[in-house]
Amino acid sequence: MSTKPEAASDAPAATERPDGDTRRPLLKLESLKTYFPLRGNFLDRLIGRESGWIKAVDGVSLDVKRGEVVGIVGESGSGKSTLGRTLLGLAPATSGAVTFDGQNVAGLSEPQLRKLRLRMQLVFQDPHASLNPAMDLRTAIADPLKIHGITSDPDELDRRVREILEVVGLSPPERFLDNYPGELSGGQKQRAVLARALILNPDLLVLDEPVSMLDMSVRAKILSLLGRLKNELGLTYVYITHDLATAKFFCDRIAIMYLGRVVETGPPSAIYEDPKHPYTRALLRAIPDPDPSRHVPRDLPRGEVPDAANPPLGCSFHPRCSMAYGPCGWEGRDLRELLERRWTQLPEAQYERERAMIGDLEQVGKPATTVQVPAGKGYQGRDVVDLLETIRADAPDDPFWRGVQNIQAAEGHAQVDFYPAHDPRLKQQGRVQVACHLWDPELAPESQASSLS
Ligand SMILES: Nc1ncnc2c1ncn2[C@@H]1O[C@H](COP(=O)(O)OP(=O)(O)O)[C@@H](O)[C@H]1O
Ligand SMILES: [Mg+2]
Repeated sequence: MSTKPEAASDAPAATERPDGDTRRPLLKLESLKTYFPLRGNFLDRLIGRESGWIKAVDGVSLDVKRGEVVGIVGESGSGKSTLGRTLLGLAPATSGAVTFDGQNVAGLSEPQLRKLRLRMQLVFQDPHASLNPAMDLRTAIADPLKIHGITSDPDELDRRVREILEVVGLSPPERFLDNYPGELSGGQKQRAVLARALILNPDLLVLDEPVSMLDMSVRAKILSLLGRLKNELGLTYVYITHDLATAKFFCDRIAIMYLGRVVETGPPSAIYEDPKHPYTRALLRAIPDPDPSRHVPRDLPRGEVPDAANPPLGCSFHPRCSMAYGPCGWEGRDLRELLERRWTQLPEAQYERERAMIGDLEQVGKPATTVQVPAGKGYQGRDVVDLLETIRADAPDDPFWRGVQNIQAAEGHAQVDFYPAHDPRLKQQGRVQVACHLWDPELAPESQASSLS
């Protein structure tokens, strides 16, 4: 009698996966948003005016597999630390879901969450701030075991502290047990911080800029220690950094963040050899070149990272993007910015002439795709149109003009219509996912896409 072949292959059903199964992500983020209420000034609060939200994390979806190192890379203010804190349950998510090893973090009670937090530890940038200066290492590193009620047996504590000091390379342990943080070098301090996190035997470490305060020579040592520990202890890392250079060799996968969103994600080899998003390209160009004889432009594109409380329409990067065009989200604030940028460069007399032709700039600088540019006192809408056309003729290649659909004169103002704004979504493109209209066949004109590749 023969067994049915399908019976055998059906046997190990999906429900019987071993704990270490690599198919199910250890950590899953789905459309995660973390907004902070924007505190207005005293008067705003007094009259109960809704003053809006800082959209620190604005819809991030990400899977982290067991044993993986996933890099979260972006400039300061892009929401990396908030993302890290949210996935640990330290900052409340506004919406979306965090699933850790199959458990929905948001749905857990406080005691369950405390238990789960043992398995996810945060290591952050400043080792000085992470260690109590008045605690010797013996006490500081044993502390988490006591706090979480794992053991208070002195011999057991002593044994485990010595063991973990060896693991992080503070060896021999007796040389360090009675040291205070102030007696350690930066690298030794960061090792002690790691020991404190690892003594709880976690599965996941969120490393928030763990080496950015350390000297160059120490950075490489700590990163290689982290790499070794990952393999020896079966850890998974979320590595947060603004430094693409370290992310390149340290990560299995990288997510580039800009203003609370992931704009590009993929393996480092793909991201570094063939970046797709103009922001990723700009970041990569900004990596300092070790050879000073080569003049690599180090500056990111013009302008600061915009305010997360009032992100640009469409693609948040469009105001700084040299490739931006029609659907990227051009709006009144871009026009105001263009005018102000121009005026700072003009001779005084010309500036005054132009400034007088336009009325209240507040009315121009709105997050809207149709704006009315008021004429100044004694001027007509027609004059404003002429001025805008003069400005266009002076720099017709400014990406701003690609967003302008129509300019027309009206009673007392000029009306500027921009093309409709579209939010870019992550789409697969070769080995990466990229959120950029230039790579979207439905939006990008043929010429745009081909000029990128
Ligand atoms: N607790 C908080 N309350 C209000 N705003 C915050 C808070 N934490 C962060 N932010 C704001 O959220 C945005 C992202 O900050 P952060 O996550 O620290 O970015 P990054 O780590 O990439 O520098 C910034 O605009 C920051 O000012
Ligand atoms: Mg940060």
